[in-house]
Amino acid sequence: MSQPTIKRLEDLQTMVSLCKRRGIVFQSSEIYGGLGSCWDYGPLGAQLKQNVKRAWWNAMTRREDIVGLDASILMHPQVWKASGHVDGFSDPLVDCKNCKTRFRSDNTPSYIEKKECPNCGSKDLTPPRNFNLMFKTFMGPNEEAANVVYLRPETAQGHFVNFENIQQSSRRKIPFGIAAIGKSFRNEITPGNFIFRTREFEQMEMQYFVKPGTDMDWWQTWKDTRWAFLKKYGLAEADLRFHEHAKEDLAHYALKAGDIEYKFPFGWQELEGIHNRSDFDLTQHAKFSGKKLEYFDEAAKEKYVPFVIETAIGCDRLILAVLCAAYREEITKDEDGKEDVRVVLGFHPEMAPQKVTVLPLSKKAELQVPAMKIRDELAEWFDTGYDDSQSIGKRYRRADEVGTPYCVTVDFETLNDNKVTIRHRDTMKQDRIEISKVVEYVTNGLRNF
Ligand code: GAP
Repeated sequence: MSQPTIKRLEDLQTMVSLCKRRGIVFQSSEIYGGLGSCWDYGPLGAQLKQNVKRAWWNAMTRREDIVGLDASILMHPQVWKASGHVDGFSDPLVDCKNCKTRFRSDNTPSYIEKKECPNCGSKDLTPPRNFNLMFKTFMGPNEEAANVVYLRPETAQGHFVNFENIQQSSRRKIPFGIAAIGKSFRNEITPGNFIFRTREFEQMEMQYFVKPGTDMDWWQTWKDTRWAFLKKYGLAEADLRFHEHAKEDLAHYALKAGDIEYKFPFGWQELEGIHNRSDFDLTQHAKFSGKKLEYFDEAAKEKYVPFVIETAIGCDRLILAVLCAAYREEITKDEDGKEDVRVVLGFHPEMAPQKVTVLPLSKKAELQVPAMKIRDELAEWFDTGYDDSQSIGKRYRRADEVGTPYCVTVDFETLNDNKVTIRHRDTMKQDRIEISKVVEYVTNGLRNF
């Protein structure tokens, strides 16, 4: 057998199919024909999502200078007035009077260049009108204007309105940060590319409160810190780049901003935003709520409104990047030139939905019973799978395709020698070890994977 040729992911559809086939991501409400740009995470996907969130949460809140928050999705409507979202969080839309297509005027080439509809080429178009991206609903039984509330379009406002509560209760001194994970909603005009841009998504955002004047240094520090995190979890340096926003492209709250971009199969796209939000949000909330949101520096006997450095990443978008980065096909040819393809999701072990899976060689009870016992013992420590159908070769391939670092095979010899065969996902190397040593073997193996 020759050395394998490695092929990386070239098209998104391959990943969409793998995700569906292996229970990672399904289209929402599929039996009803699906709901546009909404997706459900299946058994392995839900586990992957937990792992992504845990990695981010630990990277943030295990630091002494960052604390966690879980804020509600519905907030006082004034929050969105103060934040600028009611007036400014919109896309300019144009309607084609001929074919009724509605499109964005700011990113549609045929409109920008020739003032033409991208669908039918007609020039009979409405002028651009601002369309607010926030979802609205009503609080309580009366559907009237006074009861309108919004589904939050970002988690960040929860950090700002709780600034004083958190700073005082946790007795943190500046600089310190607040980290939160939660759902956000945007009525995007052009969602798409699988879980890349959706209308309901989860954000992982951290606001770091600093003394004015130190903000640009912290902005740089957080750029570097977040870059290192993404690399740690398998995103290759060559597939990452930083794009700094031009002044005219800055969001309404930002003094300076940039994105870490990732090279997805459909091109370079924003993955994570690193923003210097200045004192914009705290000042606005102080103005609208009438409550001072300041920090008193005891040592310097100085009062000021902190500046904020924000790191903001979509959990679903990071999952897509982690999946794309992990995917590889190992292509080998045997002596007769017959091609064999091994698909592997080469996840960082913390990301793998299952760390180990147990494979009894036969369906006979004499193997199933001890195999299930080993599964149960492993499951006390790790997310563990169990697979007893088809040939052992096919089962190894199934485990590789969902990125499981170890397979433990229970065979008839096990009944005599109390040993199992344990196989490594990447090297495919196999070791024969005592059942009593399996937990220790996997623990050490995952640490040095
Ligand atoms: N609080 C700042 C903020 O929300 P953003 O650049 O609009 O900034 C931050 O969003 C991140 O959230 C993006 O970099 C992206 O990863 C994710 N995100 C934004 N809109 C999204 C959508 N429609 N679907 C999935 N993820 C999205």
